[in-house]
Amino acid sequence: METVVSGIRPTGNLHLGNYFGALKNFIKMQNEYNCYFFIADYHSLTTHPHPDDLHGNVKSILVDYLAAGLDPEKCTLYVQSDVPEVIELYLFLNMNAYIGELERCATFKEKVRQNPQNVNAGLLTYPTLMAADILLHKATKVPVGKDQAPHLEMTRTFGNRFNNIYGVDYFKEPQAFNYGGELVKVPGLNGSGKMGKSEGEGNAIYLNDTPEDIRKKVMKAKTDGGPTEPNQEKPEAIKNLFQLMSIVSTPDTVAFFDEQYNKCAIRYGDMKKQLAEDMIKFVAPFSEKIKAISADDAYISKVTKMGAEKARESARKTIQEVREIIGFKPF
Ligand code: TYM
Repeated sequence: METVVSGIRPTGNLHLGNYFGALKNFIKMQNEYNCYFFIADYHSLTTHPHPDDLHGNVKSILVDYLAAGLDPEKCTLYVQSDVPEVIELYLFLNMNAYIGELERCATFKEKVRQNPQNVNAGLLTYPTLMAADILLHKATKVPVGKDQAPHLEMTRTFGNRFNNIYGVDYFKEPQAFNYGGELVKVPGLNGSGKMGKSEGEGNAIYLNDTPEDIRKKVMKAKTDGGPTEPNQEKPEAIKNLFQLMSIVSTPDTVAFFDEQYNKCAIRYGDMKKQLAEDMIKFVAPFSEKIKAISADDAYISKVTKMGAEKARESARKTIQEVREIIGFKPF
């Protein structure tokens, strides 16, 4: 059976980008593959979270995952820092990762642009830690959104380089996976091309948002003065609204507003009202479950212990084999 690995940084609750870019596939894949899904708390240290926030954020993601339907009996659901073996693989991979290629990584450049005052070594070597996450379980499939494609490319490079240096055929090439479809990029509400926690105020809709939160954010979403000619090409912000609508609304609803747009009769206020109601309908089933699971600390503790045990078993095996390949041998 093929192995699947995917992770998420604990920066708060899950938003629709996380859901449609990744989680939706996890829920399906756990029935078909040997899956490892983890919360990347080591990765999140690049932004220096407060200790209380770190713990709380890990819990939020875990609860959201469980509420969304990840079943810890079917998949291995774990917290990255519960499996410290990954750090050893990270170190080994760092020895074969070149500064130049790390500096050229599109996501690194983007982070430097966003936070020029905090360009730390962890940020530079983020792709090697991510490669270690994936190679640790020898995954071949990685369900992720489009933004993670450059990291997957680097993971293949690091795995292949390890194989070449040591003359082995040990690591397989992992591929980004979306059931044969294109990788997804869910846009934000404030004109940003990507829904994300760090993309600005009001950009993201979270699974635990209240109906009022959602209405407020959607009504504020960026639009323009409206089309002036029939069948005019949609500007970026309007395309984004339509794309968001296509993930939560029925095809008939999207077709209706598309027709209105093409006839220059669109009322963005009506479109946003509809979009907000459809988003509210989408997140409603999650919020009740999130509340219930969040209150059950014993269950959360059980889930993380079970996940850590299963993940460490696989991790230890890889580390032992990798150590032997590298030439670390017991005396
Ligand atoms: P992160 O925490 O930014 O996001 C988690 C997952 O959600 C997807 N995603 C999106 N997909 C579509 N549209 C969006 N607007 C959107 N925003 C987020 C991401 O693509 C991702 O799949 N580096 C990773 C975490 C990670 C990881 C790994 C992933 C660490 N190690 C190993 C896979 C395998 C990240 O920062 O994702």
